[in-house]
This record gives sequence, structure tokens and C-alpha cells, in this order.
Amino acid sequence: MTQFTLVQLSDTHLSASRPYFQFNYEMVVEALADLAPDHIVITGDLGLNGPDDIADVAFAARQFGRLGAPWSAVPGNHDLGLVPFEGGLHQPITEARHAAYLAAIGADRFLQDLGDWRLIGLNSQLLGSGLAAEAEQHTWLAATLAETTRPVAMFLHYPLFLDDPADPTPSHNAVHPEPRAAILGLIEASPHVKLVASGHLHEERRVERDGVTYHWAPATSFITTDGNHGGVATTGFLVHRFDGETFTTERHSARWMINHDIASWGNTQPHGYYEIVKRPYPSVA
Ligand SMILES: [Fe+2]
Ligand SMILES: [Fe+2]
Repeated sequence: MTQFTLVQLSDTHLSASRPYFQFNYEMVVEALADLAPDHIVITGDLGLNGPDDIADVAFAARQFGRLGAPWSAVPGNHDLGLVPFEGGLHQPITEARHAAYLAAIGADRFLQDLGDWRLIGLNSQLLGSGLAAEAEQHTWLAATLAETTRPVAMFLHYPLFLDDPADPTPSHNAVHPEPRAAILGLIEASPHVKLVASGHLHEERRVERDGVTYHWAPATSFITTDGNHGGVATTGFLVHRFDGETFTTERHSARWMINHDIASWGNTQPHGYYEIVKRPYPSVA
């Protein structure tokens, strides 16, 4: 097989107990039945509140089983937490949260050769954490890139950078500067990395840099208009079509998907998301 279609879903934010975004997911399930992809990658924020309720991640994994194709996933900040930075101390990643995530879904990274390509999934939440798993993942990534002669498509939740790879300011929007430089160093040392696809920002944007395409996937769940990062804020997903050593990418929107805008969740207090996901889901009985 030299041609294959890979659908990238991102930021599904699923939960059985608080199914705010299940409708959009159902629309995606219907759309994928028509698209019939060969493989599906989900780039993080699989669950609504995984760091405090790992059942959300386990539920998301069961939902991915309905997609009709093999799937691989990497975690996001709403699955196992984030590296703290000044002003953003919600739900830090810990050994315990990492272990709970692995128990719920089996793996936090992946490696798969498909067609002529090598697909690599990374746990971006480890980057800058200082956990033992961070160094172990870096060693694995370096070895995995060094041994391949195939073109490589990498998938992770956080984008490596927004506009400037040298931006020294840590933020909640992208991988922190020090671990970013380490990962970019591996990418720049490899002639094979062609695509780095991420999620997290709930916006779609594509940039080319030094022969590598960096593509932000839109979310299937919601948008937020209170912090645009220069991409297109709309719900949807990406369809990557690989043919030999080339690829094209298109954004798709499933029929009937709703552009939920959760900017309103920040109207009453900063980080309103973290408060609303702890509230009981309203009864409709
Ligand atoms: Fe998200
Ligand atoms: Fe995220």
C-alpha cells in the first residue's frame, strides 16, 4: 500500500458523565463511515477532565473503538495534566496521573509504519515535566528517528511553537522553550521528518519551516474565541492523504457539527473550564 488516508481527530473532550461535546463526536462518527480512512490518530484532550477523573479517558478510548478503523492516540493536558508555569498551575502532570493514563488507555506514544511512512506519536505533556518518562521518551524518539529511512509524520498534542520557535516565554499554548529546542534539534537533525501535526489550540493553521509542515488540527469539540492564535477557529478534523512519499492535508467539517464557543466559560472567572467540568451535569429528566 503506497496510498493511504489518515484522519486526524483532536480535542474530542469526551465524557460519559458530562457529555457536553458528544453530539459533535456523533457527527464525526457518521462522517468517518463515509470517508473510510485507513488509520485514525487522535491528538490529545481525548477526555473532558482526565487528570481528576480518568474514567473520561477510558470512555474516550471506548468511543474511538466505534470509528471503524485502527486508531492511535496521544494525551493532552485534559487527559493527564500539564507542566506548570507561572499563572497556570491547574492540574500538574504527576507520576500518579501518568500511571493512571497508561492504565486507562495502554500507551502514551506510538510508532507505526504505514505505506511508505513512519508515524510517530509523542506525549507532549511530559516535555519539561522532569519526570523519568520524559528522558525515556526523548531517548526513544532519537533512536526511532535515527533508524528510519522513511518519511516521518509526527503527532503530539501541544504545538511545538506558535509563531517563533525561539520565543523564550513559557505558556499554556505550546511546548515550553527548553524541551521545544530539544525536540526541534532532533527534527532538524533528521532529513526524514516532513509533518508535525498537533492539536490543543482548537484552531487550524499550517506553516512550513525548513522543509517541515507544522499543521494545527481543529478540535471536534468546541472553539474559543477569547484567545485566537492566528489560525481558523472552527470545529472539524484533518484528512491527510499519503501517496508514496508525498502527502496533502485538508480540513473537513462533519455535517451538523456545532461551533460551541466556550469563551463564555471564561466570563465569570479565569480558567472557567476547570470549574465547569467539576459541576454535576444538569439533569434533563
Ligand atoms: Fe483541547
Ligand atoms: Fe489541550
